[in-house]
Parts: sequence; structure tokens; C-alpha cells
Amino acid sequence: MEEFMATRTGSRTSNRTTSARSGSSKESSSNERNRSSDNRSAFSFGDSAGPLLGAALAGVAIGFAANFGRKAIMQGMEAAAGDWDEILATEHDVALAIFDKMLTTDETQSFKRKMLLMKLTHALDKHAHQEEMVVYPALREANEAVSADQLEGEHGYIKTYIYELNEMGPESGKWLEKVREFRALVARHAHMEEEEVFPTFKNALDDEQNARVTSLVNRDGFWMA
Ligand SMILES: [Fe+2]
Ligand SMILES: [Fe+2]
Repeated sequence: MEEFMATRTGSRTSNRTTSARSGSSKESSSNERNRSSDNRSAFSFGDSAGPLLGAALAGVAIGFAANFGRKAIMQGMEAAAGDWDEILATEHDVALAIFDKMLTTDETQSFKRKMLLMKLTHALDKHAHQEEMVVYPALREANEAVSADQLEGEHGYIKTYIYELNEMGPESGKWLEKVREFRALVARHAHMEEEEVFPTFKNALDDEQNARVTSLVNRDGFWMA
């Protein structure tokens, strides 16, 4: 057991820059399981493990702590931004502001366009992950599967726009038109979440459930940052 934990954690520490995306969902759900079963993560070795904090494990722990610190800095103040629905609404605003910057560019600014598209892709990716791994499953659990499925389907079209913009390239004469369409889809999608689906769901949650969703969204966003 201890060997398994050390290996997993060690590989995350060393591979995280290249495989953070594919690893993070496993990681967060695994952490979640650990947390709910005994309130500790990989560094709680349980009663049966005995005294095994050797040099190798201590090294892993230090690596983990350093990694944790870096992520906490990157995460900034997000964890303090309020309830899950407020966090997600703020992220919508951030994404829409990136779109607005994109719409002020012309085709001579291909580097700026590329940078903004990368930034947008990362922001939307992290955001979609939080919704798809936490909020939409919670919606389905609360008998809101129709809304959850519609919203998750729209995330697929959001990815399709990113794909198309990448294929088109920043010098294309159709770039602005494509970005404008893309922005409209994201704005409509965000509006449905903020004005319809999330308020209805939030009203159905008690304080404890609401806090739980907030904590899970923060945790997921943390691993994605
Ligand atoms: Fe969404
Ligand atoms: Fe959203």
C-alpha cells in the first residue's frame, strides 16, 4: 500500500507538467476517496503501516509540498471567491473578457491571437473540467440530468470552436467571425447556467450540500490550475 502511494505521488510530481490534464481527474477522484474514507490523503499511512517514513518517502513528501505551494500560488485567490456558482460565474466573465480582447485584434496580430487563444483554451478547459467532474454529476444526482446533458453537449461544441480556430490559423480572414460566433455560444451557455440551471439547483441544496459542491469545485480547479 505504501509503495503504491509513493509511486503514484512521485510520478505525479515528475510528470505533472506534461500529463497534468489526463492525470488530474484520476488524481482528484482518488484524493476524494481518500479524504472521505479517512480524512487524510496519501500521507496518512494508516494503523497497519508502521513507522516507514524513510528518506525516499520524505523526499516524496517534500516534492509534494513544493508542488502544492506552486499550485496554491497559481490558484491565487480563487478558493476565497465565494460559493461554487460565484466561482463559476467569475470564470465566465474572465473567458468573455478574453474573447473581447480577441475581437480587438486584426490579422496582422497573429502572435497575439495565438496567445489569447491559448489563454482562452486553458481557461475554458479548467472551467469545463470543474463543471463536468462536479457540478453536472451533482445535477444528475438531483434529477437535473436533462440540463446537465444539454450543457455538457454544448461543451463539446465549445471544444469544436477551439479546434476550428486552431485549424484555421490566426491569419485567416474568417478568424474574427468565428471568434464572434464562438463568443455568442459561450455567452448563451453561461447565461443558461447563471440564470436558470445553477440558481434552481442551488435553491434545492441545503447549506452543507452547497458547501460540499463549493469544496469539490475548488479542489478540481486546484488540480487543473
Ligand atoms: Fe458549462
Ligand atoms: Fe460554466
